Amino acid sequence: MTSAPGSIGISLLGAGNIGAGVIAALAAGASRYAARVGRPLELRRVLVRDSARVRRGVRPEQVTTNIEDVLADDATKIVVELLGGEEPARTYIEQSLRAGRHVVTANKEVMAKFGATLLQIASDHGVRLLYEASVGGGIPVIAPLSRDLLANEISAVTAIINGTTNYMLTAMAQQGADYDDVLAEAQELGYAEPDPTADVEGIDASFKLAVLCGLAFNVNVAPTEVAREGITGITAQDIAYADELGYVIKLLARASLVDDEVEATVRPTLVALSEPLAKVDGVLNAVQVEGDLVGRVLFEGPGAGPGPTASSVLADVLDVAQDVATGRRPLAFIPRRTVRVRPPEEHESKYYLRLTVQDRPGVLARIATVLGNTSISIASFIQYEVADAPEGTAELVFTTHRASEGSLTEAIREIEQMDVVLEIGNVLPMAG
Ligand SMILES: NC(=O)c1ccc[n+]([C@@H]2O[C@H](COP(=O)([O-])OP(=O)(O)OC[C@H]3O[C@@H](n4cnc5c(N)ncnc54)[C@H](OP(=O)(O)O)[C@@H]3O)[C@@H](O)[C@H]2O)c1
Repeated sequence: MTSAPGSIGISLLGAGNIGAGVIAALAAGASRYAARVGRPLELRRVLVRDSARVRRGVRPEQVTTNIEDVLADDATKIVVELLGGEEPARTYIEQSLRAGRHVVTANKEVMAKFGATLLQIASDHGVRLLYEASVGGGIPVIAPLSRDLLANEISAVTAIINGTTNYMLTAMAQQGADYDDVLAEAQELGYAEPDPTADVEGIDASFKLAVLCGLAFNVNVAPTEVAREGITGITAQDIAYADELGYVIKLLARASLVDDEVEATVRPTLVALSEPLAKVDGVLNAVQVEGDLVGRVLFEGPGAGPGPTASSVLADVLDVAQDVATGRRPLAFIPRRTVRVRPPEEHESKYYLRLTVQDRPGVLARIATVLGNTSISIASFIQYEVADAPEGTAELVFTTHRASEGSLTEAIREIEQMDVVLEIGNVLPMAG
């Protein structure tokens, strides 16, 4: 394949949902991008699984199913990885870097698990690895954390970084609907995958939070070190009670650096209605960062979709293309420190606690005593009669002042054993 004189070659690994968006945007913005970079960008090879499918904006001779065709193309200076998943994406990224190609990726899983290693390989080979689209889709957050906020000591990152679960929790709150109904609706609308596990169990968000920890605190946090709980246990009742208390339930990704130790959690959390994150609804994402110099900043916007994701992917492409055009060699930001990641029992928060009990005198006092004995002080308490529950049962909702999760777990274990306690409904942290 001949290349246009002076052009900077770009090859794509993957031409699915996002790849197609990137190809379309590259064509639509060609003259603007050329003016920005000083040289035109040229689409070279496109790696896919099914080479027989016609792809808009791609000539048949550009399509390949073999990574070697991409690596052997000398005109390709930038490889854009949009395959998704761990393999073969990780291997192809590594091969591209070792072959002296800059890489742009939208892959949160690879960056969460292998980011530090791949960034080091990039640095060793004098090329760049950029990953703006891996967290928050179209929201600029990786670049601001790597550059604009660099002078700050970041103490906390609090984020809504999974559009599927945010759509579902918003729909549950607005419609009073149950989990199963909104999941079916989200699947019908294409907001949830046929197998929604990665989203609803918080796995996707834990990858993204691990990536954010690297940037915010300059530490390596493995996704498995993120304490994680999904939204499958959230009921319409929890959402209604939270509302009455002045809160909404969000799948919140929270990370903080305390005494040079990291706390990182992805959990359904009651967020006070006064907090900006409480107003981030539907498929929107948001990332709030707290720095010692800047204070609080909030980045909010569309967390997925071909347009917003192509916006982030192409921002990285243009950034690298400017390096290629000018011979610039920017320094890589590689998280190098390893610090202790606190286990959940050492985390502290305010908590929401819902129990079903026998409606008898003295029950409340017994539960309050257990909580008191484990140093948990009750902030508020409401008793509800449950319409469709058997007669003589009641639902109790407690909120607590700040307490350690370890003490709470101990208290719950004891409360669970009480003959008057029929069910522990839900235990959720509260923010704000
Ligand atoms: N979807 C979003 O809104 C969004 C937002 C932010 C980030 N991202 C990230 O963007 C990346 C791409 O997502 P997507 O939604 O575009 O995925 P997708 O629609 O499933 O597309 C994947 C593409 O990769 C190709 N592919 C997959 N495995 C391959 C293999 N082993 N060899 C060759 N080609 C292979 C597929 O080829 P065929 O076309 O032949 O099947 C397809 O073109 C992922 O990392 C995702 O996490 C997505």
